[in-house]
Amino acid sequence: MTNIPTLHVMDHPLIRHSISLLRRKETTTFQFRQFVAVISFLIGYEATRTFSLKMTEIETPLQKMQAPVLATPVCLVPILRAGLGMVSALQLLLPYSSTGHIGLCRNEETLQPMEYLCKLPKNISEQMVLLLDPMLATGGSAIHAVNLLKKHGVKKIIMLNIIGSPEGAEAFTKAHPDVEVFLGCMDEHLNDHGYILPGLGDAGDRLFGTM
Ligand code: PRP
Ligand code: URA
Repeated sequence: MTNIPTLHVMDHPLIRHSISLLRRKETTTFQFRQFVAVISFLIGYEATRTFSLKMTEIETPLQKMQAPVLATPVCLVPILRAGLGMVSALQLLLPYSSTGHIGLCRNEETLQPMEYLCKLPKNISEQMVLLLDPMLATGGSAIHAVNLLKKHGVKKIIMLNIIGSPEGAEAFTKAHPDVEVFLGCMDEHLNDHGYILPGLGDAGDRLFGTM
């Protein structure tokens, strides 16, 4: 796969270690949720590294001071269902963020995303969006979600995924070359049913115990 400037594949040993534990078929639903949260926190830390700051006046118990705070409001947007597992960790990192929801599920035959929910803050066009979905498989769901966000006037979008396929990464970055992607791990390829190999199976089912 050629080098894609907007694609950042994580090399932090804790991310790689936790993804290995996440994938294992013995991993229980409870553990799966915990690993998704830890990995999301670490990818979120990397993805926010270049966020701009502005100075604001605060008061400590001793005196006033000019202190740095994030310059741009952030909206977290998980793609339901599996993206929900990433929200709590990002809310810890970004406690003043708002949260919108996009509900998509893939048609199992066509692999095309079907939209069933779009609930976004009214002023989302003034916010930077962190789009959350653990899996970037064909890229169809992510492309659809970004199309929706752009239709709502969002100008700055960063996407966080845990596991991706080369096919999905290529399709997504071609469709949306202005969106930075922070990816925990790049896997080998997709199987005939659009599942990532070696992957982890169905992320939504493993997260919510609906196997
Ligand atoms: C999964 C996953 C992504 C999508 C990725 O969701 O969470 O949203 O598939 O596949 P794609 O890149 O080929 O579009 P799914 O549609 O299984 O819904 P779920 O989260 O409700 O299980
Ligand atoms: N969705 C998943 O949950 N897993 C895959 O491997 C592909 C799409």
